[in-house]
Amino acid sequence: MQKTDYNEIAASYNRRYKVNYLVNIENEIKNLIASNNYKNILEAGCGTGKWINALDNNNLSVFGLDYSFEMLKISKTNKSKLNLVNADAVYIPFKDNFFDLIFCVNAIHHFPDKEKFISESKRTLIGNGMLAIFGVDPHIDKEWYVYNYFDSVYENDLKRFPSLDYLKVILNKAGYEEIETKVIEKIYSKRIGTEVLNDPFLGKQQSSQLANLSDEEYERGITKIKNQIKQNSETVFKTSVIFYLTSARKTKEK
Ligand SMILES: C[S@@+](CC[C@H](N)C(=O)[O-])C[C@H]1O[C@@H](n2cnc3c(N)ncnc32)[C@H](O)[C@@H]1O
Repeated sequence: MQKTDYNEIAASYNRRYKVNYLVNIENEIKNLIASNNYKNILEAGCGTGKWINALDNNNLSVFGLDYSFEMLKISKTNKSKLNLVNADAVYIPFKDNFFDLIFCVNAIHHFPDKEKFISESKRTLIGNGMLAIFGVDPHIDKEWYVYNYFDSVYENDLKRFPSLDYLKVILNKAGYEEIETKVIEKIYSKRIGTEVLNDPFLGKQQSSQLANLSDEEYERGITKIKNQIKQNSETVFKTSVIFYLTSARKTKEK
């Protein structure tokens, strides 16, 4: 599996949140915590700490795990009480039955062994604890103009991203219960002609899809877009992204 170099991306990563704050994801995480009275919380693949920093308060023990040290360095602000660990999500370095909630946002597609992550989460969750996986599913949602202009990006996404159906299958196989999927956030934008060249997500470091391309592959895609605009200056470039939450509970007795 191709590994995205997040140490390279770290410095510019947070730009994406200036464009799309994704407030519904933040609200959903906060709701899960408040409505279940969770205290010990882990984000696997926490990156620059966008979500864990929003939770950082005296009543919660908040942990963030990421394999990119440069991303973690950005997570740690001077006043934060976050507990950060530089580790791989498929080997969660914590004792059994410890977390009330483990969540991940836009990260599971990077984990080399999804089933191992799911079983490690189950081991480290308390009975009745919850695993919450936020992400997109290119198997059902494919309306992103990038897929049409950059060779192999869509095919690679189909390989990298677990489908919602597959997630349910492996959660079920691991013995989780109350497995549910729901839509959390929908992003839609339409750029006409040269406007697309100002799309921040067209930057090479602004998505793992483009970051994983060689410079030549990336430039070939940009040239295709420019040629298309030359042919038709009114070309519409659409982006439609749907973020889902798949949640599952570890049974009390297991
Ligand atoms: C797209 S970023 C998401 C970061 C954060 N969750 C967010 O939503 O802003 C994916 C993150 O997963 C991390 N990651 C990728 N593979 C990992 C692994 N095997 N174990 C831990 N973290 C991993 C990357 O370093 C990166 O920080």
